Amino acid sequence: MSLATSPEIWAEGGPVEDWTTDYDIRDKDYVENPVPIWAEMREKCPVAHTDRLGGSWNPTRFDDVREMAKMTDVLSSRQVLVMPPPPGSAEMSRYEQMIAAAPITADPPIHTWTRRMLLPAFAPKAVLQYERYTEELAHSLIDEFIESGRCDGAEQYAQQIPPRVIAHMIGVDPGMADQFVIWVNGVLGAGLNDPELRLKTREELLGFIGAEVAKRMEDPQEDLLTELLFMELDHPDAKITPEVVVGITNLLIIAGIDTTWSSIGSSLWHLATHPADRERLAAEPEILPIAVEEFLRFYAPVTMARVAEHDVEFNEDVHIKRGDKILMNFPAACHDPEHFEDPDTFIIDRARNRHVAFGSGIHRCAGSNLARLEMTTALRVWMERIPEFSLRDGEPMEWAGGQVRGPRVMPFEFPAGTKR
Ligand code: HEM
Repeated sequence: MSLATSPEIWAEGGPVEDWTTDYDIRDKDYVENPVPIWAEMREKCPVAHTDRLGGSWNPTRFDDVREMAKMTDVLSSRQVLVMPPPPGSAEMSRYEQMIAAAPITADPPIHTWTRRMLLPAFAPKAVLQYERYTEELAHSLIDEFIESGRCDGAEQYAQQIPPRVIAHMIGVDPGMADQFVIWVNGVLGAGLNDPELRLKTREELLGFIGAEVAKRMEDPQEDLLTELLFMELDHPDAKITPEVVVGITNLLIIAGIDTTWSSIGSSLWHLATHPADRERLAAEPEILPIAVEEFLRFYAPVTMARVAEHDVEFNEDVHIKRGDKILMNFPAACHDPEHFEDPDTFIIDRARNRHVAFGSGIHRCAGSNLARLEMTTALRVWMERIPEFSLRDGEPMEWAGGQVRGPRVMPFEFPAGTKR
């Protein structure tokens, strides 16, 4: 058994003694508020290292993260999770790793054509068709709890929107949305610390997608899945197979759901706990698009990893060894004082805000137009109907950490309203 799959890697390594040499992305403090920890790392050792979870590097400076994102010839995307594969999972060939969730798990040339397959569906004009659906959905979710004056903002609102939009987009039964949430949690949430759950979830999710793809091979429909399957791409390397489409759909479900619900949730958490920002947004709804960029920067949720294909020196003193994982810490980069004025202060109308919440380089988020549309619509409808809200006193909040950070339990209270 290789080191990467040995069960002892999964064991908790006790409290973190030194954040620059022994960080743990599962640590409670890191999950609840990583911002001061990144500041410490950035100051003392901008590319920190840990031996936990099989070993990884954690760059916290904007320039370093952006530079590493460009090193696609040495730092491969074929393992984007820092957690090792669950013990017992089948060995995958390089090709299988790359198409497992292409384009995010692929390097060029596979990356180039699989990304190109997706771009038209996510162009700014193309995603506008989902605005009405998202708006209606947001209203109907609020109708469920507005009369009671309380809800769980994570579970009953933020978490409900992206899975339904994705189901609607790829053309599967929107009734599957609750199941998508369970699967996403099994892969990126609880599954990160529970290898058996991750393995089981992966099998179920891929089984479901495989069956949906097979159905469309037999009986093509008017939906994105069918479009991807029968796409003719003008690219010399393109080899679109059902397996490639299964991988892409797997990515859309995982990447499109956890990320966006985390961002909607963090934004609502911020507004619930910062009354001045909430009142300003209620009074000046026209600042919402700028506020969304600050929510994205301040609470950037996504940290994907890379694996080194061979030994490489970075900045002279960082000796990356073949097989080491590197965290693309876009969220920490978004708090680098070299790039953002007063980065650890949330400024709702921040004027200069070239953040990297959507990543940087060839893997920059292909779904950013849809993500912005969902966030803006979800927040606009919420603020129109529930402009005053706060966390319920004494009830616990829960954040998910790891590689996608956001609130998972968020007890809210507000003056009861009426259904539409
Ligand atoms: C606020 C929500 C979102 C955030 C913060 C986010 C963030 C990111 C980041 C940081 C990456 C780069 C990963 C890397 O470098 O390895 C990425 C890639 C990607 N995201 Fe998103 N994402 C969000 C929503 C979405 C949505 C809604 C979709 C589609 C349904 C989506 C689809 C993708 C795809 C396909 C890639 C891979 C692009 C490539 O490898 O070329 N994302 N996302």
